[in-house]
Amino acid sequence: MPKVYIRTFGCQMNERDSEWIIGRLLSEGWELTDNPANADLAIVNTCSVRKHAEDRAFSLVGRLKKIKNQKPNFKIALIGCSAEAYKEEIFERFPYVDLVIGPAKENKFLEFLKEERKILSVGEEGENKEFIPECDYRRKRFSAFVSIMEGCDNFCSYCIVPYVRGRERSRPLKEIVSEVKFLVDKGYKEVMLLGQNVNSYKLDSSSVGSLGRDKNNGFIKLLEEIDKTGIERIRFMTSHPKDASGDLFRAMRDLEHVCEHLHLPLQSGSDKILKLMNRNYTLDRYLNLVDEYRKILPSGSLTTDIIVGFPGEEEEDFEATLNALLKIEFDSAFIFKYSPRPYTSASKLEDNVPRQEKERRNNLALAVQKEISLRKKMKLLKEKVEVLFEECKDGKTLGRSRENFSVEVNREETPGSIADVIVEGVRINTLIGR
Ligand code: SAH
Ligand code: SF4
Ligand code: F3S
Repeated sequence: MPKVYIRTFGCQMNERDSEWIIGRLLSEGWELTDNPANADLAIVNTCSVRKHAEDRAFSLVGRLKKIKNQKPNFKIALIGCSAEAYKEEIFERFPYVDLVIGPAKENKFLEFLKEERKILSVGEEGENKEFIPECDYRRKRFSAFVSIMEGCDNFCSYCIVPYVRGRERSRPLKEIVSEVKFLVDKGYKEVMLLGQNVNSYKLDSSSVGSLGRDKNNGFIKLLEEIDKTGIERIRFMTSHPKDASGDLFRAMRDLEHVCEHLHLPLQSGSDKILKLMNRNYTLDRYLNLVDEYRKILPSGSLTTDIIVGFPGEEEEDFEATLNALLKIEFDSAFIFKYSPRPYTSASKLEDNVPRQEKERRNNLALAVQKEISLRKKMKLLKEKVEVLFEECKDGKTLGRSRENFSVEVNREETPGSIADVIVEGVRINTLIGR
């Protein structure tokens, strides 16, 4: 049987795309291997959101050349966001790569694989991948990624995603619901609904008709339908502050299976920088949203993404970001150093915050947030959280609370089971419980 090695960089979208391809390959008689030297095909699923992520994927491609030298029939496929970003240039830089396929074109993967010549196909329009139950593959056993939409129309000035993943398109509601029902039957307890901006999910015309509903608030309607499928837990990612609203928070409160966690990227605490980023909200609007969220869902958790060192970010802008972190008290935050990306409008601005200064701001923001995260977790001592157990090892079981905290208990629990846990200890990234 032919063997395939796959390595995935980047976000959960990429994870899901890799799963989809693996599923197709397995159904065609392929076998998975975690050693590229034993493989007939290596797939590198790339991310181009920051240069560092891209470099890591490219350096793996470089290392795969050695295998190709020894095994001429060994094929290398470079897929995902950097495939779309660099198209033909990939073949100039890595002439031994066989296939370059952009993220919206995986439907064609098997077709291309059968051909002998080097093929370049990158999606312009973007196609949605079909859900084929017979080819279903998921890396995790109890929690599954479900893509609800692809692409992005927001064009934040720093971000390459709209250029590499194409225009926003939503999958039909019926298809998503039947995928979730299929997962329920397979024993899944949780779904993570994926989209670059889930709050702008659009209902297809047939769903609008059959549900007798208007076209607005498509995402909330989708949540309502998924809530009835029998799945225990529903998560979603990511929400854009310009489209999030009280209606969403009330749906999170009222729908039994929707988890009380909101990831709401702030990016910067300075209105000047938010404007340059083309984010379409001010810090004030963001703070109002947070107030509303916390009023409606007092026990809900809140996490964010921050970029430091955006072009034109002065000390006072950076301080505004630190102040926002202190004021909002996120449960956790991903903090990134700005990285200029091809195609983006920000890449035309002078990247005028020196590398060392970006590093300093990054470390400072991380330190500030670390203290907040720890302090907030301490408040959970003696509280009860509901945990879905996922992994049992060396007498300990790891799982996640509804609020998306990682929780460890000191005994063996059945993976896939859900139980209440009393928090007895706190580590920076984990709650320890009984
Ligand atoms: N669609 C999601 C985010 C996708 S990218 C959203 O809008 O929330 C994930 C995160 O990477 C972004 O929130 C942003 O903080 C960060 N990011 C994107 N482009 C970046 C860049 N050029 N440099 C540094 N960080 C970046
Ligand atoms: Fe990128 Fe902005 Fe779209 Fe998120 S919303 S993927 S940051 S352009
Ligand atoms: Fe995701 Fe990276 Fe592409 S964050 S959308 S894999 S650029």
